[in-house]
Amino acid sequence: MKQICFVCQNVDCKLRGSEKIMNELADKVAARSLDVEVKSYLCFGGCEEGPNVVIHPQKTWYAGVKMEDLPEILDSLAGGPTVTRLDTIDPALKEITFALLDTGVF
Ligand code: FES
Repeated sequence: MKQICFVCQNVDCKLRGSEKIMNELADKVAARSLDVEVKSYLCFGGCEEGPNVVIHPQKTWYAGVKMEDLPEILDSLAGGPTVTRLDTIDPALKEITFALLDTGVF
C-alpha cells in the first residue's frame, strides 16, 4: 500500500513552519521517486507539539519536526529506520488518530 505522509497545516503547526516542511517533503519525495503521497491534514490534535507529520498506514507520528529532521524522515519513508527521537506524542492520542486514518476518511 502506498504510504501517505500527512503534514498538519492548521494554525499552530503552520506557525512553526509546517507549510515549508510539507513543500520540502513533497519536493524531496518527488526527487527520490519515492512511492509516497505528501498531503496536508487539518489537525491531529497535538497542536502544542507540532509541526506534526503522520505516516499512514505505518502508524508513525513525528512531532516537533524541523527542517533539519527531513533527511532522516525521508530515509525512513524510503524504508529506513523510524526516527524514534521524534516519536514523542501521547500514545492515547496516537491510537485515536491512527484508528481514524484506518477508516480511510482523510
Ligand atoms: S495545529 Fe497541527 S496538530 Fe493541531
